[in-house]
Amino acid sequence: MASDSPITLTIRRPDDWHVHLRDGALLAGVVPHTARQFARAIVMPNLSPPMTDCAGVAAYRERIMAALPEGMDFTPLMTLYLTDATDPDEVARGFADGVFVAAKLYPAHATTGSAHGVTDVANIRAVLERMASIGMPLLVHGEVTDAHVDIFDREAVFIDRTLAPLVRELPELNVVFEHVTTQEAVQFVESAGANVAATITPQHLHINRNAMLVGGIRPHMYCLPVAKREVHRLALRQAATSGSGKFFLGTDSAPHAVGLKEAACGCAGIFNAPFALESYLAVFEEEGALDKFEAFASLNGPAFYGLPVNAGTVTLERGPVPVPEQIDANGTAIVPFHAGEELGWRLLG
Ligand code: NCD
Ligand code: ZN
Repeated sequence: MASDSPITLTIRRPDDWHVHLRDGALLAGVVPHTARQFARAIVMPNLSPPMTDCAGVAAYRERIMAALPEGMDFTPLMTLYLTDATDPDEVARGFADGVFVAAKLYPAHATTGSAHGVTDVANIRAVLERMASIGMPLLVHGEVTDAHVDIFDREAVFIDRTLAPLVRELPELNVVFEHVTTQEAVQFVESAGANVAATITPQHLHINRNAMLVGGIRPHMYCLPVAKREVHRLALRQAATSGSGKFFLGTDSAPHAVGLKEAACGCAGIFNAPFALESYLAVFEEEGALDKFEAFASLNGPAFYGLPVNAGTVTLERGPVPVPEQIDANGTAIVPFHAGEELGWRLLG
């Protein structure tokens, strides 16, 4: 540590632009972790069954607020799950009424909870045109699901086959390329217009695919899109810490019970919510970019979504933060990202 490096870092209150809060007992177990760290969060709609209409999303929002411990100041920003059958009028109504702020495109069978997703973007063309005309952002899980495409290539192939044509044909549509994992995605977002941005998770900044596969198979390092080669991790670190307004914080925190991860067919998803800011900050420090952290965590996302930045600040202080091996999420044991490690910054308060 350089002698002139700061002991504390104070930034405007941050937001998480991509989180899975789940439902039922698990919701009550995970929402306090996100609410402790973030003022707002984009809540993904891939429940079972998925949140495909205004009534469902509004009811889910109520359950989130009911699960929030008293005194915590947290605003869930809801999203609609797109299917082949989504009605453009329902989308426009929910957006106008403030029921949701965006819609999520899951290619069918791309990831956890995507079985009802879109089988071909041509099927939702009318929805996307309406979203473009009303200024409603499209959030994209960017992977093809073609069995012939290698899983490590699925994001890059999605750009060529689906995303690039979509952005070309609907230049007014605001698009968030969620949880980007490749150099190709970074380049695509950088070279696109101001209507295209991306979220980046902490895990894709910290790990490459070796972390998942060397010395044994490590299910807690497995999420989708899957971590790629080192060259891609380095491109993501460069993008996140560059100061570009096109990249912002989205944890993709995706809790699964330990038994569902440590299984013959383990679920995709990494639970990073409890130490998300600490995890990101380690990366910004290693990259010598502490001065860029506030933009990534607290400013770029609101600017893209056309929302005000949060009032108030949070402070992180240097100091050892041991990450537990497991976290009890209201009765469900979950292994968090960085389990058993020690992080170097602590979120105060
Ligand atoms: C997410 C989940 O578990 O809901 N899993 C993941 O690996 N990221 C779904 C998703 O965002 O892909
Ligand atoms: Zn996700």
